[in-house]
Amino acid sequence: MAKTPLQLTTRHQFVQAAKPKTTAAKAGTAIVQAVDALAGRHDGAALRDALLDFFSVREAQFKPAELEAFFSHLIRVLPRKGPAAELLEWAYQSLVRIAFNRKEHKRAIEFYKQYLGDCAPRCDERFEQTYFAAMISTASRLTPLARRMQLFLLMQLFQRTLSLPGLVAECGCSRGLASYLLCSYLKFSDPAFNGRGYRIFDSFDGPRESSVDGVADLATVKRNLAEYPGIEYRAGAIAGSLPDEPKGRYRFVHLGVRSYQSLLDSLEYFHPKLVPGGYIVSDGFGQPDARKAIETFVVRHRLKLRTTPASQAYFKRGR
Ligand SMILES: C[S@@+](CC[C@H](N)C(=O)[O-])C[C@H]1O[C@@H](n2cnc3c(N)ncnc32)[C@H](O)[C@@H]1O
Repeated sequence: MAKTPLQLTTRHQFVQAAKPKTTAAKAGTAIVQAVDALAGRHDGAALRDALLDFFSVREAQFKPAELEAFFSHLIRVLPRKGPAAELLEWAYQSLVRIAFNRKEHKRAIEFYKQYLGDCAPRCDERFEQTYFAAMISTASRLTPLARRMQLFLLMQLFQRTLSLPGLVAECGCSRGLASYLLCSYLKFSDPAFNGRGYRIFDSFDGPRESSVDGVADLATVKRNLAEYPGIEYRAGAIAGSLPDEPKGRYRFVHLGVRSYQSLLDSLEYFHPKLVPGGYIVSDGFGQPDARKAIETFVVRHRLKLRTTPASQAYFKRGR
């Protein structure tokens, strides 16, 4: 479908509605009218940008119930196909986030489930259930909603390595969400799995870089992953905690650290230790520092860079 620019009158409506003197009720009405006028025949990205601009200025001025009404309206009127449909995820994400921030967790979960039934990209049922259990067990946020697809793709790659020898590790675990999933899949393939052969490297002194789930100390992560008491925890800054183990071999490494040096150090350390067929996956390809580290590593070692549609970069060791 050809993209149409944001129409002048509609842009004007947004600009007017965003003015500080406009009352919340009037602004809300103006935006609803603009959305109604455009829904279905508009460039979804331009509409999303205009709405994001609008809400970055005005969100604090609306009551949560007003915001909820607005986003629910958006969900009702937006078409399920075509460019405007991409706004749907954002609208659902806003609803989940608003409910979560108000500590209305049940309500946040209801919106999340509504999103799954309505417009979420499809994942398999086992992933869906495990991911939900992982979010609850690690008290991780339901948003950003796009994280679900990123972790689904991570599990798809991980499943290719289940029959290989070697350790599995995560560097930078936050509250342990991805580690919970990785350990669950290890348990699916071996019901006796208790965490042995799985390592976590993290400073555990709170995030040095942006993490949507915030601070997690070692005791919290251990509690979140209590089902797997055999996990080996290596606490400390990456630079000092990577052990001198010439014989250490890994089949799968998930890199959640995103600062330039810690990611580059991790890649340099783990890549030569991959078993044939093993994978390293970084979840930071969408972040400038992490991307720079990955590109430096690729050029330095003349490797083939592979990426996923969910801002991940990964390397596979040839057989
Ligand atoms: C963005 S979070 C990881 C998210 C996690 N992979 C997930 O899926 O939930 C970054 C994590 O890396 C850790 N971290 C950041 N820099 C570090 C460093 N230099 N050494 C050790 N840990 C570090 C932080 O403590 C935090 O837990």
